[in-house]
Amino acid sequence: MTKVLVVYHSRSGNTARMAQAVAEGAKSGGAEVVVKKVEEAALEDLTGADGIVLGAPTYFGTLSAEMKGFIDGSVRVRGKLENKVGAAFTSSGSPTGGNETTLLSLIQGMLIHGMVIVGDPLETGGHYGAVAVGAPDAGVLIACQKLGERVGKLAKVVGGA
Ligand SMILES: Cc1cc2nc3c(=O)[nH]c(=O)nc-3n(C[C@H](O)[C@H](O)[C@H](O)COP(=O)(O)O)c2cc1C
Repeated sequence: MTKVLVVYHSRSGNTARMAQAVAEGAKSGGAEVVVKKVEEAALEDLTGADGIVLGAPTYFGTLSAEMKGFIDGSVRVRGKLENKVGAAFTSSGSPTGGNETTLLSLIQGMLIHGMVIVGDPLETGGHYGAVAVGAPDAGVLIACQKLGERVGKLAKVVGGA
């Protein structure tokens, strides 16, 4: 069965809510899903997944230090994440507060691992991944679900290739 891992950091719950919606979408697409707070995620979670979706709040225009630390730690599994499918989501306080640069920073790490990245073509989404400004509204939650679903479906095709 295709495995999708959702790892997120969240202080006030907005990114956490998005993570649950991403997980719901991946499950609805038929994947087995594990959702972990970044503090609880291990490198084995990354290597054991076919699809990996990372979410962090936008802090000073980029991802939070907690998520950056997790990505930096993944250097220890360099070479083992190749061809896994990845996507990103973020919550920011302001619509122009750096949510897109946060998504690109999250994606950058995945590209360096040789992963295959899923974007977001939905009008309610955020082009480079799912974006919420503050608490995610119904449209954002749908974008998160669709993103999770597409990661699961694509991982079934290319994951571990
Ligand atoms: C330390 C800190 C820095 C932040 N920097 C930004 C920022 O640069 N741009 C922005 O739009 N929001 C910024 N915010 C607001 C958060 O991105 C926003 O409240 C987000 O929804 C929090 O997500 P969470 O509920 O998952 O913790 C910042 C919040 C904190 C605590």
